[in-house]
Amino acid sequence: MSILGEEMVAKLVVGIVTAGGDAPGMNAAIRACVRNLLAKETKVIGVKRGYKGLIEKDFETLTSRSVSGIINLGGTILKTARCEEIRTEEGLEKAARNLNELSLDYLIVIGGDGTFRAAKEISRKSGVHCIGIPASIDNDIDGTEETIGFDTAVNTALEAIDKIRDTAISHERFFIVEVMGRGSGFLAIAVGLASGSEFILIPEKPPNVDSLIERYKVMKSLGKTSMIAVLAEGAIDGLTLVNMLKKRIDAEVRFSSIGYIQRGGIPTLRSRILANLFSAKAVEMIFEGKKDLMVGIVDNKIRTNELTGKKRTIGEGEIYMLNLAEKLAI
Ligand code: F6P
Repeated sequence: MSILGEEMVAKLVVGIVTAGGDAPGMNAAIRACVRNLLAKETKVIGVKRGYKGLIEKDFETLTSRSVSGIINLGGTILKTARCEEIRTEEGLEKAARNLNELSLDYLIVIGGDGTFRAAKEISRKSGVHCIGIPASIDNDIDGTEETIGFDTAVNTALEAIDKIRDTAISHERFFIVEVMGRGSGFLAIAVGLASGSEFILIPEKPPNVDSLIERYKVMKSLGKTSMIAVLAEGAIDGLTLVNMLKKRIDAEVRFSSIGYIQRGGIPTLRSRILANLFSAKAVEMIFEGKKDLMVGIVDNKIRTNELTGKKRTIGEGEIYMLNLAEKLAI
């Protein structure tokens, strides 16, 4: 079908899948991919429920109307899943067979590092080339300095921490606020600096409870009556930390996990702009015949990069932010 709804002879057939954890802005990316592809007379197939849909042949043809009214919605209209089967040889074979039956030329994969790793395998098995669009609230994908959804998630977490700060100040408490990030501290660092939190605890630098307590005492001696530690979930178990602190410091320690609220909600302007720019570039790449690459933003420019499926790790910029947050929280 063309953008206007009438029959057309498709030049290419392209699939779109969202996989792994949902991220706000995925829908804006789906919309932009679909409409850019339709403008180039491409047949667009949506794969439902992540890679599960590839294995179970859960497909739907997408038209311009299928993506109406979704630019401002969190989640993903295609749905998503964490699919263990795609990591197996059998699962990969089924997915490859189904892709080839559809005569797909390309598959656009929208997701995180795990999604990209699987995409490489799918491409190897099926010969259908994949183009990756990075979307994850964790912001930890190699090949891009920012992912779709990160900005929305940090703003959601920031709003929550600002609210928790009211109780911390009023009750003179020490709050451990857990944010997402099982393997990376990008979210915790950004939100920790922006919220003026006294501690930022990340998986890349597992917290030392003795030095945390030392710093707590220094801050208290400087007149601080309330404090906040932003804890990335992968750094240390939050409740264990709270129990240790309760035994060793003279403070009302409380734990609050922001949790899945960070994954949902209306995507911010930044998340939507990235979704639009990444998707336009992904479609351009397809029509330039590029294979097994991803789009990303590096030095504020939209770029293409190798689809490595690796995780990005914190660098100099994040270490600087960590140190700055620590310095300013005194
Ligand atoms: O989307 C990434 C992430 O939010 C991680 O930070 C978190 O640990 C994980 O997803 C949990 O998601 P799920 O319950 O979907 O496995």
